[in-house]
Amino acid sequence: MKTLLAISLMACALFGPAVFAASDAPRERVSFDAGWKFIKGDTPYAGGSLDYERIKDWVLPTGDELLNQPPVRAPRRPRDPEREVKFAHVDFDDRSWRSVDLPHDWGIEAPFQQDLSGDTGKLPWFGVAWYRKTFTLPAEDAGRRIALELDGAMSYALVWCNGAFVGGWPYGYTSWRVDLTPHLKPGGSNVIAIRLDNPNWSSRWYPGGGLYRHTWLTKTAPVHVAPWGVFVTTPEVSAESALVDVAVTLANDTDARADVRVGVRLFAADPQGRAVGAPVASSEPRALRAVPGKAVKLAHTFRVAQPRRWSLRERHRYVAETTVLEGDRVIDRIETPFGIRTIAHTPNHGFLLNGERVPLRGVCNHHDLGALGSAINERALERQLEILQAMGGNAIRTSHNPPAPELLELCDRMGFLVMVEAFDCWQAGKTPDDYSRVFHDWHEKDLRAMIRRDRNHPCVIQWSIGNEIREQWEPDGWRLAAHLAGIVREEDRTRAVAAGFNAIVSGYNGFQSVVDLVGYNYKPAEYAKLRATHPQIVQQGAETASTISSRGEYFFPVSEDKAQGRADFQVSSYDLYTPPWATTPDTEWKAQDENPFVLGEFVWTGFDYLGEPTPYNADVTNLLNFSDAAGRAKMQQELDALGKIRVPSRSSYFGIIDLAGFPKDRFYLYQARWRPELPMAHILPHWNWPERVGQVTPVFVYSSGDEAELFLNGKSLGRQKRGPGEYRFRWNDVVYQPGELKVVTYKNGKPWADAVQRTTGAAAKLLAQPDRAALRADGRDLSFVTITVADRDGLLVPRSKNKLTFSITGPATIAAVDNGDATSFEPFQARERSAYNGLALVILRTKPGESGPITLRAESTGLAPIEVTLKSE
Ligand code: GAL
Repeated sequence: MKTLLAISLMACALFGPAVFAASDAPRERVSFDAGWKFIKGDTPYAGGSLDYERIKDWVLPTGDELLNQPPVRAPRRPRDPEREVKFAHVDFDDRSWRSVDLPHDWGIEAPFQQDLSGDTGKLPWFGVAWYRKTFTLPAEDAGRRIALELDGAMSYALVWCNGAFVGGWPYGYTSWRVDLTPHLKPGGSNVIAIRLDNPNWSSRWYPGGGLYRHTWLTKTAPVHVAPWGVFVTTPEVSAESALVDVAVTLANDTDARADVRVGVRLFAADPQGRAVGAPVASSEPRALRAVPGKAVKLAHTFRVAQPRRWSLRERHRYVAETTVLEGDRVIDRIETPFGIRTIAHTPNHGFLLNGERVPLRGVCNHHDLGALGSAINERALERQLEILQAMGGNAIRTSHNPPAPELLELCDRMGFLVMVEAFDCWQAGKTPDDYSRVFHDWHEKDLRAMIRRDRNHPCVIQWSIGNEIREQWEPDGWRLAAHLAGIVREEDRTRAVAAGFNAIVSGYNGFQSVVDLVGYNYKPAEYAKLRATHPQIVQQGAETASTISSRGEYFFPVSEDKAQGRADFQVSSYDLYTPPWATTPDTEWKAQDENPFVLGEFVWTGFDYLGEPTPYNADVTNLLNFSDAAGRAKMQQELDALGKIRVPSRSSYFGIIDLAGFPKDRFYLYQARWRPELPMAHILPHWNWPERVGQVTPVFVYSSGDEAELFLNGKSLGRQKRGPGEYRFRWNDVVYQPGELKVVTYKNGKPWADAVQRTTGAAAKLLAQPDRAALRADGRDLSFVTITVADRDGLLVPRSKNKLTFSITGPATIAAVDNGDATSFEPFQARERSAYNGLALVILRTKPGESGPITLRAESTGLAPIEVTLKSE
């Protein structure tokens, strides 16, 4: 305590209290999300087309400062993209355009279209669109450097400021910035115009379209901490003490040298990552000469006694506060949250966090948020993580692209481990217009930007350089892998370089030596094989299972053939069915249990996502080289039988949790394995089969217990013990009679958990359950309200598909509705929805600055309606 006091007194003396007045802080980062104008379509342009290929020379210099050796660029053709680009003109009248606030995804607003590819969600997310924003810049901003920062723009963005072209960025998942300073008018009105161009066939999933993440204006003094210019590492950590290294990079945007001093103080952080209390360590400001146009670096090293380490249970963080002084004047200050913890990916002892083994219980997720589309929303992300945590999940793979920054902030806060992934392809593409088109010119910037933005997050443990990269199959493909791994290591040596592998070239093809750990995609049989020849290689399941199912659907007879279990474009939820390349969770777990050196897994996927409706993605089978001929034939039969020419499916069946966020049966299979200490049991299928009386209807039980006895209407159907390599209890010969199924489970011989599945009565009423009833009146907060179709006793009525209508009073809107049905073409933006197997979801969004009670009413013909009241404050 004494030392802390001494240090903080010393810090006050060094920096002087006046220097720390917040009003002095010259750096500002202000949200730039409000008040945009939007139009789908392009501007007439006399100068020709604005296609990326044509004006690439103008875009390429953006982000050159990220390159180790920025190239000398040829002079650009004079004023080309500025000539006659009407939508970019300052005086263009955009009043007829739609008003939108960001984040905004134009794809999700449109109706589904049968003739669009299911693989990208049957939604029109592609094409050209424009955004414009007119704003007044305060006169006091004269003399500051002002940058527009975009957390992600989908895609091929081009930016104009007051009619002048200022830069752009092709990859939709990267955070990037353009300097607006030379073109802005402080004290006057300014116009930003952004053109986006999303090529069709540029994605294997629904990417969304638009300024779908947050945007910011960052204002600094001309000499300032460079963008992402603080990198905190902890080279030594123990329970007693930690060495904390804070490397600061300074940028000087003036023409003259500047002699400044840079000081750093460390604080404990609150759960939001904000500095609290007195500093726990501080350094004397050190002199530094900032040279124009050059990044200069300075490192401060601290010793922190008894560090509060970041772990999954205790998410302690610290904040490094960096201050730049010119004379006595603070010219920049920036706070960087970080964590003190150790990580190790070991070949024999798994993944270690602070020296303790943590099995990776992870999921892969795409970035869309279901009915909300790709437009980032913090609460929607947080809800996803809460659901995963309830299942026992502790890790996320951001497949197959850099995430929104908010995801990592939440993972720091909530305790998840993250594999951040850069690319789904390199030079060899997977779809005709994907990232391969720009890989050569942009990969270094995209990779460095990803790492620099995210390298202070304690949650990040791995950087993946790519997923199922085609170059794996090329004899010298490893060279490109080595190049990318080299870039990663230049940026950050404290995390593992990873990749998702699906090529097996006799277990080894050179790629494996380039990365720090091998992540197999659906190759549980390879763990042991690679181990036999290369015991030093660290292994994990980068993508596992890919089991497919539709919530609440069960088809008979229950076949063991993994390609079966399909009907009416749904997939049976007995959790036995996968595409040809994939496995059930059970097969994967058996391999992990037999090879305990494997770090763990990232299941494909945590949540269903828009697009890739395997096995019903027939309309792009040629494009994706879908190899399942039998599956394709079966699909054709289904289509013929239904008189349909095209597959209706538009979202995936891979999720453990459906698109609406409702757990499928598989949720409980994972929960049983990932939370072995939680007494739980789950029975499937539902028990409403009037047409199956007297027929064999298998019953499965998922439980963390090791023994289970099943009863039908009080009569025992046998007690089972789960042996090694067995992950579910199965009664395959149950003859259906309506009534009550009950399971009683045991663990180590003692009673553990019971569960019941009852035949229900007819649908009689609706129930409504909000996930949160007290909301923030900020226009961003959401409540996810589950509507259940229930019988008189309040039991969910399986297979009910009643049409529901919703109305709302009070300060909120219905942001979207869903039901988790991958074949539904009902729009997400609506006030009505059919239930799907008993459930529907209403997502409410508060109105900014309006507080008060919110009442949601759900109705359906013939059922008692329900009202639920929430409050916004
Ligand atoms: C993998 C691929 C994923 C997804 C998955 C479906 O091979 O990496 O992106 O397509 O298959 O099973």
